[in-house]
Amino acid sequence: TSPAAPLTAVRAAHWIDAESGRERGPVVVLVRGERITAVNEGTAVPAGAKLIDLGDATLLPGLIDVHVHLTSDPTTGTGNYYQDALTLDVIDDAVIAPTLAKRTLDAGFTTVRNVGAPGYVDVSLRNAIDRGLIPGPRMLVATVPLGSTGGHADDTTGFSPDIHFEGPTGVADGVDAVRARVREDVKRGADVIKFMASAGVLSNEASVGAPQYTQAEMDAIVDEAHRWGKKVAAHAHGAEAIKMAIRAGVDSVEHCSFIDAEGLKMAKARGTYLDFDIYNDDYILAEYAKLGTPPAQIAKEKLVGRVQRENFRKAVEAGEKMAFATDAGVYPHGWNGKQFAKMVQWGMTPMQAIQSATWNAADLLGWRDRVGAIKPGLYADLVAVKADPLKDVGVLEHVDFVMKGGVVDRSDIGER
Ligand code: ARG
Repeated sequence: TSPAAPLTAVRAAHWIDAESGRERGPVVVLVRGERITAVNEGTAVPAGAKLIDLGDATLLPGLIDVHVHLTSDPTTGTGNYYQDALTLDVIDDAVIAPTLAKRTLDAGFTTVRNVGAPGYVDVSLRNAIDRGLIPGPRMLVATVPLGSTGGHADDTTGFSPDIHFEGPTGVADGVDAVRARVREDVKRGADVIKFMASAGVLSNEASVGAPQYTQAEMDAIVDEAHRWGKKVAAHAHGAEAIKMAIRAGVDSVEHCSFIDAEGLKMAKARGTYLDFDIYNDDYILAEYAKLGTPPAQIAKEKLVGRVQRENFRKAVEAGEKMAFATDAGVYPHGWNGKQFAKMVQWGMTPMQAIQSATWNAADLLGWRDRVGAIKPGLYADLVAVKADPLKDVGVLEHVDFVMKGGVVDRSDIGER
């Protein structure tokens, strides 16, 4: 940041100190270029600074969602599982992705981790956003997720063997093949490695939670990724697969639906992040049958939805590390904030839910030097809400002001 860049002062009556978990205020946040240069208690604005006065609003760090898929959502396809698979291609995904990225940013999510996309669309999207060519959240991308033959990442499961799918696939079996597949993702631009430790809901294998890799394969994926300096996120619903993934040393487990007492203990001991996408179930059960999702997949959702929420509560009570992860893409982008109220309903305080989407998410990403708090030196990624999010965390479903990197994306709070 050049000292010549103009100084902006963002003033608000309240702010969330996500690092300490306290609400404070009033505050004047000074921004020069992309970064926060000072966080001053009080209301005084330095001479010469451009003032953005948010009045009574509460200022928060830009929100972080560590589990999204910006290349599609239920509003972008025909809705029908098989029809979409047979008629949409990677170019459709690439064309729509900027719109979904903008919806996400407008919702106050200034950083996301995209944990799986076809054809390296996520790499191009991240790069275009980083270069300022299109608006969108900061992205860490996983590129093509790894999975076993017939597993949750094998999109050909359930299709006739006569149908041939083109394009990069994450399907890899065996220790050598998974190592090679990790290297390929890294080579193509992955910031993080995603693999399917267990079966899943929205895919055609019979199980919803059975392990889909051996311990040796999981160990190899994590070892290889970490050697390249990349963190690892493992999709896992089943209790056994969750423990195998934790044992392998993953940085986060996604979904965590059937995690058992031993799994909670292991995660706690190792500091593994547990990322529960507990809003999803509502949307899937309300909408997916109408969309033409195979009944067997909806039956699998019914196995995980409620128990995942109960286990979320146990994880909160056990004091696990938890990051805000919605799996947006399964439901519409821009609705990310709907998960806050669920998290509070199932055991978090509003402050804990906010920290999971700010300072704690930044920890999982390895980005506490960039995002996740309102602190000098970090990016000036800020959101504001007119009402108090600690009284009603649901207000975060519609934030009133979004700034990313010192640039106002949108504001419903008039200049005063
Ligand atoms: N992508 C996940 C899967 O297909 C979505 C799971 C959604 N369900 C839930 N209860 N979180 O497995």
